[in-house]
Amino acid sequence: MSKTAILELDGKRYEFPIFVGSENEVAIDVEKLRALTGAITLDPGFKNSGSCKSEITYLDGEEGILRYRGYSIEDLSANSNFLEVSYLVIFGELPTAKQLKDFETDIRKYTLVNEEMKGILDGFPKHAHPMGVLSSLTSALTAFNPKVVNVESEKDMYDAVCKTMGKFLVIATWTYRKTKGYPLNYYDNTKGYVDNFMRLMFELPTEPYEIDPVIKNAIDKLFILHAEHEQNCSTSTVRMVGSSHAGLFASISAGVSALWGPLHGGANQAVLEMLEEIQNDGGDAEKYLDKAKDKNDPFRLMGFGHRVYKNFDPRARIIKKAADEVLAKLGVDDPILAIAKKLEERALEDEYFKSRSLYPNVDFYSGIIYRALGIPTEMFTVMFAIGRLPGWIAQWKEMRVNKEPIARPRQVYVGETLRSYKKMDDR
Ligand code: SDX
Repeated sequence: MSKTAILELDGKRYEFPIFVGSENEVAIDVEKLRALTGAITLDPGFKNSGSCKSEITYLDGEEGILRYRGYSIEDLSANSNFLEVSYLVIFGELPTAKQLKDFETDIRKYTLVNEEMKGILDGFPKHAHPMGVLSSLTSALTAFNPKVVNVESEKDMYDAVCKTMGKFLVIATWTYRKTKGYPLNYYDNTKGYVDNFMRLMFELPTEPYEIDPVIKNAIDKLFILHAEHEQNCSTSTVRMVGSSHAGLFASISAGVSALWGPLHGGANQAVLEMLEEIQNDGGDAEKYLDKAKDKNDPFRLMGFGHRVYKNFDPRARIIKKAADEVLAKLGVDDPILAIAKKLEERALEDEYFKSRSLYPNVDFYSGIIYRALGIPTEMFTVMFAIGRLPGWIAQWKEMRVNKEPIARPRQVYVGETLRSYKKMDDR
């Protein structure tokens, strides 16, 4: 691999250093491009631009590889659990038994959310989308935890991680309880993290609540699969907001809003709504494949395609297998699943999708499992947010600890050139 890249501009030659990552990804370092040439790059959607160097996640879109801190997603989803994976993603190593126990104990120090937060929740109408409520409640946490994180202090950073893991889970489940008109539950510090998710969501004061291990294990696996995904839209948002030295809660709140969009995390809800629309319209997969291919039709096959994966999203493979297992174990025969499999089968052999490398992504099957597990559709993206929290925290921490500069992209101006003020009568 050459050590530099050559650029010729206006008859001048410029050399820029080549940077090669630990998995041999090649980058042209253009940090001095404008200073040397006066020119900038133009890359809408940052499809070709690396925003940072990171040690957290490795993705290979062509090969369908996803690793957290060097461990494959297949290995972790088969052998680990969400709290352990959260520790790995955030701190870089699999925890020892003591580290994991301390992590769980230290998170429990922060699982009581200030009662006044309920007043903010009460201010929302019952039909408010849970992601909008979650983003607001997350930002509101700053009001009750105003202490600025000293990122130079490992202990301060560790405590901020535990506080965010503890409080975010509780307020995320409150968004569901609000839509149902149920009383808000409290975290039980004698139970595990994902066990608490189940209780916080579904336990009612009127009857005993038994956690179904099949459902709990499936949700734990789903959270692992959603935990991190390098510089996706919401994670880049968390980094960008955090780069101004805004607080961790404020940065996570912005990430929740970015994830909400149907092109990103909101796709899992959009997939279910699409499958239900197809079902209500007679189940004709072909009709909707044709709509997805019609440039004059805004319809897109939700859950298909990915900015990075030009092969199968490795998470989709695992989730599809889990969907089959969970629905079989729960004895759920969901016709929606049959429509999803038909769509996938036909799309994978269709030239339009093949030529654009459009494969099922993480969102295509996750909604089907969530529905079988009793999670309501409008909560699917909140599930994604709970899973993605450790990734957001890890990336924010890496960006701040590495003292990265405030994110401030350039632009190419294409508007009006200089002109003088016109009096009202002259307009
Ligand atoms: C997530 O980035 C991440 O890592 C995200 C994520 C994570 O873990 O954080 O993996 C989670 O967000 C997964 C993606 C969920 N979104 C969806 O399922 C929504 C449907 N998918 C698309 O909107 C789209 O595929 C994107 C947004 C995911 C990717 O869009 P790109 O990379 O900008 O690609 P593009 O829009 O330029 O599309 C390229 C071509 C176009 O056709 P042509 O102009 O070349 O003729 O493919 C077509 C698009 O029209 N296309 C689709 C399509 N996705 C792309 N056509 C029909 N249906 C689709 N779903």
